Amino acid sequence: MSSLRTQVGIIGAGPAGLFLAHFLRESNIDCVVVERRSREHVQGRVRAGVLEQTTVRAMQRLGIGERVAREGLIHTGTSLAVDGRIFHIDLAALTDGAAITVYGQSEVMKDLNAAADRRGLAVVYEAEDASPQALDTRRPVITWKQAGSTHRLECDFIVGCDGFHGASRACIPADALTTFERVYPFGWLGVLAEVPPCNDELIYANHEHGFALASMRSATRSRYYLQCSLEDDVDDWSDERFWDELCVRLGGDAAANVTRGKSFEKSIAPLRSFVCTPLRWGRLFLAGDAAHIVPPTGAKGLNLAVADVIVLAEALAASYATGSTAGLDGYSERALDRVWKAERFSLWLTRLTHRFPQMDGFDRKMQTAELEYLRGSRAAQTVFAENYVGLPLDAQL
Ligand code: FAD
Ligand code: PHB
Repeated sequence: MSSLRTQVGIIGAGPAGLFLAHFLRESNIDCVVVERRSREHVQGRVRAGVLEQTTVRAMQRLGIGERVAREGLIHTGTSLAVDGRIFHIDLAALTDGAAITVYGQSEVMKDLNAAADRRGLAVVYEAEDASPQALDTRRPVITWKQAGSTHRLECDFIVGCDGFHGASRACIPADALTTFERVYPFGWLGVLAEVPPCNDELIYANHEHGFALASMRSATRSRYYLQCSLEDDVDDWSDERFWDELCVRLGGDAAANVTRGKSFEKSIAPLRSFVCTPLRWGRLFLAGDAAHIVPPTGAKGLNLAVADVIVLAEALAASYATGSTAGLDGYSERALDRVWKAERFSLWLTRLTHRFPQMDGFDRKMQTAELEYLRGSRAAQTVFAENYVGLPLDAQL
C-alpha cells in the first residue's frame, strides 16, 4: 500500500480533469489526477469538434493555445438544411463578432497532455477501481489499484471529473442528490474519413429520414454524423450505405460536394440530457459529464466541462488564498445556471432537427415551420447564434 498526500485529488483525465489540473497549477495548488484508461485511449477518443471562444481563451491563458491558434478552423457562420434547402447563419454578424473554432477533442487532449508533461503535473493512468472514500471527513481519500498494489491519496478536496459513468457521482447518497434526465430514442452514427469536407462550414440537416451533420477536422479530414436507431450496430452501416444516406439527408449542393472515401472511425453514441444537483457533497465536487450531459447537437459538452472547471478552480484558489469558502459554496449554483441554459439550447436544437418515432405529419410541419422562421428571421437567428457561440461566462479570461 502506498500513501500519498495532495491538496486536490482529481478523478478522470478527460477535458474536465486536465483543464482543472492546469488551472490549479496556475494558482500553485498541488493536485494529482487519477485516470482509469491509458493516455493513448483518452487521446484517441473521437468526440467534440466545436470549441467556444471561452474554451479557446482558456487554452491560451494556460499557455496551451499555440496549436489551436495555428491549426483550428475559425468559423464565423454555420448552415442549416431543410430537405436539402440550405440557409446560412452569420454567427459573427449576429453576435458582435463571435466565432467558433473547429478543433478535435483528441487534439485538445494532446495539447493538455504535452503541457502536463512539460510542467510535471501528476497524472496516473491505468488506475483500476479509483473511487473517493472518507467523504464525510476533513481528509477525503482516493484509492485505486495498479500493478497489484493499492494506492491511497489523501486530499483536502476531491473533484469527480470522471464522466457520466464514473465512480464519483455514485458515491453521493441518493437522498443528497436530485437528478433530471431525458433519454432520446435514437443515437448518432459518426464517421471520420480522410476526404475534404463538403462545405466550408458545418451543416445541420433536417430531413424526413432524420438528422445529418456535416463537420470536419481539417481541410482534408471530414467528420459526418447520421441519426440512427439505437438498435443499429456499426456493422449494419457499410461505408457505401453511410455515404448514400448522408447524401440523401444533406441533399442539394452539399450532397453534390460530398467526397466519398474509406472511413477510419465509425461509432454510435446514444443521446441524453442529464443534470444532477447540487454539484457538491461535502468535500467532493462534480464537474463536466460527471455532473451533466447534453445531446451533442448544440456542441456544448466539452465547453461546459471547461466552464465548470474555470469556476471551480477560481473558487478553490480563493479558498486556499483567503480561507473564504464563498466561491466553493456558490460553485454549484453558478455553474448550473449556465448548464441549464445549454441544456435548453441543446434540447431545442435536437427537437428541431431530429426525427422522433411518434412524430406525425403535424409535428413535422411544426419543425419545418420553425426552421423556415429561423431561415427568414434575424431575431430568431440572433437567438440561435448567441447560444451556439456560447453564453458569456463571467470569469476572468
Ligand atoms: P470525459 O471526457 O468522459 O472524461 C472522463 C474521464 O474519466 C475519462 O477519461 C474516463 O476514462 C475517466 N474515468 C471514468 N471513471 C473513472 C474512474 N472510476 N476512475 C478513474 N477515471 C475514470 N462537446 C462539445 O463541446 N462540442 C462538440 O462538438 C461535441 N461533440 C460531441 C460529439 C459526440 C459524438 C460525443 C459523444 C460528444 C461530443 N461532445 C461535444 C461532448 C464531449 O465529448 C464531452 O462533454 C466531454 O468529453 C466531457 O469531458 P469530461 O472530462 O467531463 O468527461
Ligand atoms: C463534431 O465535429 O464532432 C461535431 C460538430 C458539431 C456538433 C457535434 C459534433 O454539434
